[in-house]
Amino acid sequence: MPSTRPSGSERWWLPWLAPTLTLAAGLIFWGAGEQFLAGAAVGLSALGFYGVHSLRARLAQAEAARQLMDERLLTTQKLAAIGELAAGISHEINNPLAIIRQEAEWLEELLKGARFQDQAQLLEFRESLQEIILAVERAREVTGKVLELARERQPVIQKLDLNRLLEDMARLVEHEARKKNIVIERRFALDLPPVESDGPLLRQAVLNLLTNAYQAIEDRGTITLTSSWAGPDHVKIAIRDTGVGIPPEMLDKIFLPFFTTKPPGTGTGLGLAITQTIIHRLGGTLSVASQPKHGTTFTIVLPLSWEPQEQRA
Ligand SMILES: Nc1ncnc2c1ncn2[C@@H]1O[C@H](COP(=O)(O)OP(=O)(O)O)[C@@H](O)[C@H]1O
Ligand SMILES: [Mg+2]
Repeated sequence: MPSTRPSGSERWWLPWLAPTLTLAAGLIFWGAGEQFLAGAAVGLSALGFYGVHSLRARLAQAEAARQLMDERLLTTQKLAAIGELAAGISHEINNPLAIIRQEAEWLEELLKGARFQDQAQLLEFRESLQEIILAVERAREVTGKVLELARERQPVIQKLDLNRLLEDMARLVEHEARKKNIVIERRFALDLPPVESDGPLLRQAVLNLLTNAYQAIEDRGTITLTSSWAGPDHVKIAIRDTGVGIPPEMLDKIFLPFFTTKPPGTGTGLGLAITQTIIHRLGGTLSVASQPKHGTTFTIVLPLSWEPQEQRA
């Protein structure tokens, strides 16, 4: 992002003036045979050069940090605006979608009593209707996810058995995973206390990550699901896969809504955006580490006890 502040580069020499003059004075003293004064001046000048140099380095660092913050803020604002727009559109589209679905189902009903001269034609008619209904389903899935992302559901905090929740989610994807020869390994810490969090939200977050994990493995591989302590008052959930991995330059994009590398009809690009929003709402953090061609680990860190922001004084 271009900076609007003057950089001051046309006066770059100004800070160096004092140490340079001091050095010059040192040389003059030396010429005049004043060894002691010359030494003092040169020493002072060296200190000055060092000071100016380190000050400028720090200023440059601060400027770089400020620019990064500006960029992040802009991205957050952009995302918020896109989210609002997408939610508005999704809401509008949901109504016509519901009508299309209803009408298609009604036509299906009517067809049951209809007589067609050509039996093949009737079959084709039915198939077309099925296609319409399926397409509507798919579209509603997308609009539903967008609305879910935009909706700020207040977490409902309960005491949860984390390992039990992880086990439930592992079982949910295990059937699909087995078809691709994927083994789900559990490594649960057995001494974890109950975690205060929102069960349904956390389930959804874990399920999204597990789904991505088995989608990242083409055939044969392992998903390792781990629970452990993360310091005295936090717990960690790690979901590691031996899948295709994520190139480093893609890592900062994967959490953006609608970013997907999956073919149309497979991915919506909303899974990680929703997961990240959920984890933040639960007071936790979500991070990723990946090695292309070797696999990826997503890590959730959650506080052991949590009160949603609005409920706090
Ligand atoms: N475990 C993973 N291994 C490799 N790539 C991943 C993994 N999880 C997410 N990704 C990448 O991040 C993208 C966004 O993920 P997500 O938001 O869940 O959307 P979707 O799964 O619908 O594509 C994926 O398309 C994929 O490129
Ligand atoms: Mg996904």
